Amino acid sequence: MDITTWKKRLSDLPLGDIYLYQQVGSTNQEAEFLIEKDAPAFSLVAANEQTAGRGRHGRTWETRAGKALAFSWILYPEPGWIRPESLGKLSGLGALAVAEVLTDKYQLEAEIKWPNDVLVGGKKVSGILVDVHWTGTQIKDAVLGIGINVHQGSVPDEQDLHFPAISLQELAGRKIDRLDLLVQILESLLKWYPKLTSESFTAIWREKLAYKNQAVILTAGEEIIDQGTLLGISEEGSLILLSDDGSERLFMTGEIQLRLVDRS
Ligand code: ATP
Ligand code: BTN
Repeated sequence: MDITTWKKRLSDLPLGDIYLYQQVGSTNQEAEFLIEKDAPAFSLVAANEQTAGRGRHGRTWETRAGKALAFSWILYPEPGWIRPESLGKLSGLGALAVAEVLTDKYQLEAEIKWPNDVLVGGKKVSGILVDVHWTGTQIKDAVLGIGINVHQGSVPDEQDLHFPAISLQELAGRKIDRLDLLVQILESLLKWYPKLTSESFTAIWREKLAYKNQAVILTAGEEIIDQGTLLGISEEGSLILLSDDGSERLFMTGEIQLRLVDRS
């Protein structure tokens, strides 16, 4: 990562401050630290390598040096704009931006595995982690973290995965420029963020939803939460499931994991 070149190109975008590192623990953690130091809205934190990248549920996200994109975007949503029950929309925003770019710029059929992964051909190419801090019931700040497996060699060894993963280069069959990709995703994030509560946002999010009308299982750790047919996403961004017991249920993002059920 040539920090001077990256900074110059990124400065053309309407971001806050730009923080680029050759190596950090986690860009989300670094962003939280920068928020404490009053980093402005839409600041970007990106790293060439993460040594303690975070996934959900306290799991780790691997970002090998020079192989992947790992960045975090600092947001201060207007008070009352995003209701607590709509928080999942922030993960949706990240997933939508990545999926949109993969489809429009790399001709890949990218899908969003609710709430926070981007899949191509059923394999995970990108993961999103949103960390939110509250003052009472209002969001004080949100850190939208995005990790993308870009080059060959970015995908962790199989024994370290509990979901199949793939790199963008393997999918696209050509070399990918990480800086181009980052700029494209930031442009998409900047376009969709103001529309987060609009119907057009939910509509395109739904369009890209993986496993629609398919049998899925929802788990939290080892526990099975529910099983049924995935119907879609509600206006708030909750998952709509037609449970096998016949009732329709909504699930907010949180500790839930989603898997396809093989009923063949
Ligand atoms: P899931 O993907 O299982 O539905 P999730 O989206 O909540 O759940 P996390 O558990 O937050 O996923 O993601 C972290 C997991 O992703 C790790 O436990 C590891 O198995 C896997 N992982 C780590 N690094 C990568 C990577 N670069 N690409 C793909 N998967 C990764
Ligand atoms: C997941 O799939 O569950 C989430 C993975 C999120 C990884 C990104 S990489 C940039 C940012 N910094 C982190 O420590 N995590 C996120």
